[in-house]
Amino acid sequence: MNPIELEGLTKSYGSFKAIDTLDLKVKANSFTGFLGPNGAGKSTTIKILTNLIRASSGSAYLDGVDITKDPKAALASVGSVVETPEFYPFLTPRETMDYLGSINGMSREAIHSKGDELLHMVKMEEWADKKIGKFSKGMRQRVALAQSLLSDPKILILDEPTSGLDPRGMVEMREIVKSLRDRDITVFMSSHMLNEVEEICDRVALIEYGKLLIHDDVSILTKGTDLRRLDVRTVKDLNKGVLDQVTALPLVESARLQSERSLSIDMRGDESDQAEMLEKLNRLGLKVYSLSAEGHSLESLYMDLVKESR
Ligand SMILES: Nc1ncnc2c1ncn2[C@@H]1O[C@H](COP(=O)(O)OP(=O)(O)OP(=O)(O)O)[C@@H](O)[C@H]1O
Ligand SMILES: [Mg+2]
Repeated sequence: MNPIELEGLTKSYGSFKAIDTLDLKVKANSFTGFLGPNGAGKSTTIKILTNLIRASSGSAYLDGVDITKDPKAALASVGSVVETPEFYPFLTPRETMDYLGSINGMSREAIHSKGDELLHMVKMEEWADKKIGKFSKGMRQRVALAQSLLSDPKILILDEPTSGLDPRGMVEMREIVKSLRDRDITVFMSSHMLNEVEEICDRVALIEYGKLLIHDDVSILTKGTDLRRLDVRTVKDLNKGVLDQVTALPLVESARLQSERSLSIDMRGDESDQAEMLEKLNRLGLKVYSLSAEGHSLESLYMDLVKESR
């Protein structure tokens, strides 16, 4: 059995279905990005998987145990960070680890060695003996991640792990999650940051209105999309007339002025088409000094799918 398996999972609020007969099998040792627009049902699914709320019907197996039947046993192999983590503010990270470890029946030595290793991994060892009450959101998030890994879970479930962090905090959090690749672990994480998902995840599951739209390898999903977004900077001022000429060029899907001297072009094609585009733009007299492709192939896929289903 796969580490996470959802079968007909449904959560109803009155007549509204936040998730609707959802089926999903998350592959072992995959890092699966769980995507979908606001209100799609990601947090609802994750809350069921972490036993914060109950499903209305269906099953959710974690390492083969149905959480709707035996939550305690199902959660034995799971670590999670869901929404803004709550801690006892008067405890330090080390005391929090001690407390959680002892609840989980770990020996003192195991708690200390594992706790120190994890606080080091999340770069919080200097703060290990300071009270969490004073910590910033990013610091709490790191402690939460360290804490979720204390009992060496086979499955790690994260709901928007970088949301609300500053840019540096985001980068660091991603690095930490990526560093888990060496471990025998399956990561299931929701996110709105498609660049983040492309960086961390090898699989993607996309839901909307509580139903699964796609679930596949990132590499397979992004292979067929040849849409690329170019960010073009020019020395010369741009105007509507130039924009119309650019829009009329072959392979161009659309173009927008971003400022007086920059525009964004969505085009179909590969790298050689992009090289030709640079020549064509200069032939139009744009005097391009910079042209870069935003490599968000997952983004165009997402836009296509979510747009289609609305
Ligand atoms: N307690 C509740 N009572 C009624 N409706 C709820 C409740 N909790 C969630 N919902 C609804 O269920 C739907 C799914 O919400 P959910 O939080 O799972 O979305 P999400 O995919 O996590 O969205 P976001 O990307 O904004 O975090 C939303 O329409 C939401 O309004
Ligand atoms: Mg959510």
